[in-house]
Amino acid sequence: MTRVISCINGPNLNLLGQREPEIYGRQTLQDIEMMARDEATLHGFDLQMHQSNSEGAIVDLLQAARTNAVGVILNAAAYTHTSVAIHDALKSLDLPVIEVHLSNPAAREEFRSTNFIGPVVTGSIAGLGAAGYVLAVKALATLIPSS
Ligand code: DQA
Repeated sequence: MTRVISCINGPNLNLLGQREPEIYGRQTLQDIEMMARDEATLHGFDLQMHQSNSEGAIVDLLQAARTNAVGVILNAAAYTHTSVAIHDALKSLDLPVIEVHLSNPAAREEFRSTNFIGPVVTGSIAGLGAAGYVLAVKALATLIPSS
């Protein structure tokens, strides 16, 4: 059975390509999905892309990953800076998780320096644009033992 990487994207990331392109780039979430999926295929994984604007739906996706995935890529977007619920869901997930941000939140507004996700993930990639998702797949490929 193909091993699944669950790639979970939070609020407003459905607008990538149109939303503040000077910060987030011109690639759409679909473009990013294709890049990340190609990389995943190279390593023998099936990448499943998800996006939700709802905090609860993201918690549900993380809970589902407990049984249907071998690794997670998470861009929690604005919930990174607010969500205890996503923090708790990550704490109960015994899988490698790579946090990705297109921009570098630490170099932006002060409120983006609060991060509820970073302390409970395996590693973080920020500020590298869409390439961050490809690098996250590469990172998971090194972290997940081959079956
Ligand atoms: C983001 C950074 C967050 O601060 C912001 O709220 C987002 C996107 C990023 O990918 O750079 O929506 O996660």
